[in-house]
Amino acid sequence: MLTPVASALLEIQAPVRESLDRVPDEIWRIVQADVAIVEAANAHLRGMRGKLFRPTLLLLAAAVEGKPEERAIPLAAVTELVHLTSVVHDDSVDHSVLRRGQPTINALFSHQVAVLMGDFLFSKAIAELVRLGDLEPLRVFTQASNEMTLGELRQLASFDALTFSEKDYYALIRAKTASLLGAACEMGALAGAPRYRAPMRRFGERLGMAFQIADDLLDYTELETVTGKPSGNDLREHKVTLPLIAAMPSMSRAQRERVEALFDDPTPSDETIAEVVGIVTECGGLEMARQKGEAYAADAAEALAGIPGSEVRQALSDALGYVMDRRS
Ligand code: IPE
Ligand code: IPE
Ligand code: MG
Ligand code: MG
Repeated sequence: MLTPVASALLEIQAPVRESLDRVPDEIWRIVQADVAIVEAANAHLRGMRGKLFRPTLLLLAAAVEGKPEERAIPLAAVTELVHLTSVVHDDSVDHSVLRRGQPTINALFSHQVAVLMGDFLFSKAIAELVRLGDLEPLRVFTQASNEMTLGELRQLASFDALTFSEKDYYALIRAKTASLLGAACEMGALAGAPRYRAPMRRFGERLGMAFQIADDLLDYTELETVTGKPSGNDLREHKVTLPLIAAMPSMSRAQRERVEALFDDPTPSDETIAEVVGIVTECGGLEMARQKGEAYAADAAEALAGIPGSEVRQALSDALGYVMDRRS
């Protein structure tokens, strides 16, 4: 039996089901290689199965005026490959051992393999864009990828709960996550409804902000058996995210000291993490972060105002609710 959230995703994907089902084969065609370690890592990644949320958005954006161009499929594959590169590298940077309910590349192979596989996937994605022979997608995806890298670098500086501000946080998630969702929607429009390129970009970026806020909430609230990723990993890795930033001003001195103690401890225990999650919850951090996420989702809905009414537009609009309600 599917959970309501899982069936919501299937419904969002329904208008582009046929094209979306072609994307995985397209991805594994692009990254095919005769090198044993790459074959082994590809086989593992292939078995991991993500939600294909970025290809879904790209294909929906390409379909807002009816039938998309054929190149929407390879572009959808490229957007997932850029995403896959970022998660393979991110898991290594975050010392994370679980993704999509399976061991990460760094856990199963090594950090060396994660670095090199990320480079391999990314260079294949770029080669595919070169094969397509249009400079525009090349420009947009390389720009997004550059921003994502800068976002991940910014994150390395997000380890001080007392100084990392809400503004810093938004700049970070805009770079590391919203840039690719924006690019996916923009490139979808390019391959089917170019006149909607700018609003689709805006829609994707705002949706992307909500998407990362929801992800950061899930790190606080959800079990790893549900998300397929280790929970509490952000606090364990001393990553300051919105729930904590939002809760800080309401904390007592004693509570703030507990948070500082976690950030001073190189290997915080599960109990310490649970205690800080409790403090953040009690001080309203989860609620405030959720409201900010909802506000970005509402801004994204505004960007859809000029898009012609259809089941595709409805699916894009439903994607906003899904992003905030998802549990994985
Ligand atoms: C995870 O993205 C990385 C973030 C930007 C939070 P997804 O939640 O889309 O991951 P998969 O591809 O479905 O596993
Ligand atoms: C998203 O940040 C990073 C990417 C853009 C890949 P996170 O570190 O929060 O993502 P998860 O939680 O590991 O998926
Ligand atoms: Mg991570
Ligand atoms: Mg996360």
